[in-house]
Amino acid sequence: MAKATANFVCQSCGNATSKWSGRCDACGEWNSITEEVPLSQGPGGKTLGATRGRKVALSDLATTEAAPPRTASRIEELDRVLGGGLVPGSAILVGGDPGIGKSTLLLQAAAAFARAGQKVIYASGEEARAQVRMRAQRLGLGEASVQLAAETNLRDILTTLEAEKPGLVIVDSIQTMWVDNVASAPGSVAQVRAAAHELTTFAKRQGTSVIMVGHVTKDGQIAGPRVVEHMVDTVLYFEGERGHQFRILRSVKNRFGPADEIGVFEMTGAGLAEVLNPSALFLSERGTPAPGSVVFSGIEGTRPVLVEFQALVAPTPQSQPRRSVVGWDGGRLAMILAVLEARCGIPFAGLDVYLNVAGGMKINEPAADLAVAAALLSAREDIAVPPETVVFGEISLSGALRPVGQTENRLKEAQKLGFSNAILPKGGKATGKSGMSLSQMPDLVTLVGEMFGA
Ligand code: TYD
Ligand code: MG
Repeated sequence: MAKATANFVCQSCGNATSKWSGRCDACGEWNSITEEVPLSQGPGGKTLGATRGRKVALSDLATTEAAPPRTASRIEELDRVLGGGLVPGSAILVGGDPGIGKSTLLLQAAAAFARAGQKVIYASGEEARAQVRMRAQRLGLGEASVQLAAETNLRDILTTLEAEKPGLVIVDSIQTMWVDNVASAPGSVAQVRAAAHELTTFAKRQGTSVIMVGHVTKDGQIAGPRVVEHMVDTVLYFEGERGHQFRILRSVKNRFGPADEIGVFEMTGAGLAEVLNPSALFLSERGTPAPGSVVFSGIEGTRPVLVEFQALVAPTPQSQPRRSVVGWDGGRLAMILAVLEARCGIPFAGLDVYLNVAGGMKINEPAADLAVAAALLSAREDIAVPPETVVFGEISLSGALRPVGQTENRLKEAQKLGFSNAILPKGGKATGKSGMSLSQMPDLVTLVGEMFGA
């Protein structure tokens, strides 16, 4: 048997070296390097993930292993985010703030996949079996044929899985799992990394899908090194605002489907309910159009979603005015303020600017530029944008407007929700088929002129 080689790993960034040092070369952290023995070379001596170095021609694979058969949970919002269902042998990481509803979602998913004919094991290191069962009963899933395991020793879990051969295993959470030959506490980087690695290798080897829950740190990253995200096939984030009822499941990486796809859920007394028409939900709290409020017709993944941008512009006595953004990129807001100032001669100096995406949704499309600009102008001039109007388009540094993708889909969604006008860049592929009346603008100066008759 090969001698176990020493492996020194930085607990801060996950960088591995062959010798110990007081300071990590990769991230500069002091005293963060500890010795690790890989589990595959640990007691028992069996290399868990090893297969013989058998070579297969790519063309041979194509015929037998192309287009993996997927299992749909029939929770439509979940299936869409997964890229059409669960791929056998895939490793999935679900991250999110504590209390956001990860365990609830995954218990519902476990029951749904069990109903779809999968053998499902739910391994919880956070809650006792009785607690999970109580939650299942509250969700009306008491009869679901899901096996529960309250276990944190990964070797025991893997032994069970080898024997049971389930189609899907849910591990809640990866931070509670404990690999017995890594000498650090559960939840440490080394443990999280080792546990994720063992589970991912197991998934690939046995064709079992593995869903791991991961807690996120204060700055919104999945706790543990980035390498965990690289190991798995799919990374999903479950996000939402505390005060709001709805939750968004977003794919940030997916080897088996589109990234940036979202599924929308509502937290109810009986668990998470699907929201099949998110636009209606995001706009539901909208009253009569007020200055600073603009509806943006966005695309999330493969689907158009309408959201409301709200801006407030107010004079400030401070020499450094505030720029506060929720749900959008602060840097992008600064850029739009600069373009408005430099190209349209509309200054925001001496004014506090607050920008908010209603309902706790996060937007990162550049296509929202024009909606943001319109909201800022409308707030600053205290003039409401005409009702039943949606806005979208990208703004360049010159102040010109650039058409964005999926114009027709954005218009169709807006029309479906009762909007009749759209403000958008000139030159896009808008055909007018949607029946919307279109105001197509070449640049920001034209928009200012149209909105305020300047
Ligand atoms: P949970 O799934 O335990 O969150 P996580 O696993 O991400 O930490 O969800 C906990 C919250 O969800 C809790 O504050 C109560 C709420 N909740 C409901 O509102 N309705 C329900 O049916 C359930 C099960 C939970
Ligand atoms: Mg939980």
